[in-house]
Amino acid sequence: MHSLIIFASGKGSNAAAIIDYFKKTGQARVSLIVTNKQDAGVLEIANREHIPFLIIDRKTFAETLLQEQLQEHNPSLLVLAGFLWKVPASLVQAFPGKIINIHPALLPAYGGKGMYGQHVHEAVLAAGELQSGITIHKVNEAYDEGATIVQACCPVEKGDTAATLAARIHELEHYFFPRTIEFLLSKS
Ligand code: GRF
Repeated sequence: MHSLIIFASGKGSNAAAIIDYFKKTGQARVSLIVTNKQDAGVLEIANREHIPFLIIDRKTFAETLLQEQLQEHNPSLLVLAGFLWKVPASLVQAFPGKIINIHPALLPAYGGKGMYGQHVHEAVLAAGELQSGITIHKVNEAYDEGATIVQACCPVEKGDTAATLAARIHELEHYFFPRTIEFLLSKS
């Protein structure tokens, strides 16, 4: 069975969608959740699902200790699901081609530094875009610049707020993220 490691800084609704999906298919299991926040909602999910977790700080993040801990799980993929730190080059090199991220917009637009969470949706609305969407991409050393794997679009509706647009984007994420992982695992 494939092992997945999820990195998340927030609520963890994508983590939950991935865990639920693979509980049904049995093709993979989430063997570790890594977070940089003591109070991240994703830790509640880890507890509920009895999945081990690791709370990291900036200093140990890039260290070999962390890499060794990750290697132990022999992951097929490292999945960034709302993880706000840049992944250090040493980690990218330790897992070549095996780290993927989800971004709540159609990259290369609305990506890069400062473009996370509500900021992305606010910028999309301010620009008067007619559509937005999600991008699932490989992670390389540059923020939000790895090769695109999948993009999915949704309309921006009249009267949308950052919150209503975020909810529509989350729906796309919860559908496409587990299925994209499934696709990648089937090729590995
Ligand atoms: C998602 O919209 C993801 O695209 C972005 O952060 C959000 C995380 O949401 N990078 P959640 O913690 O999975 O609910």
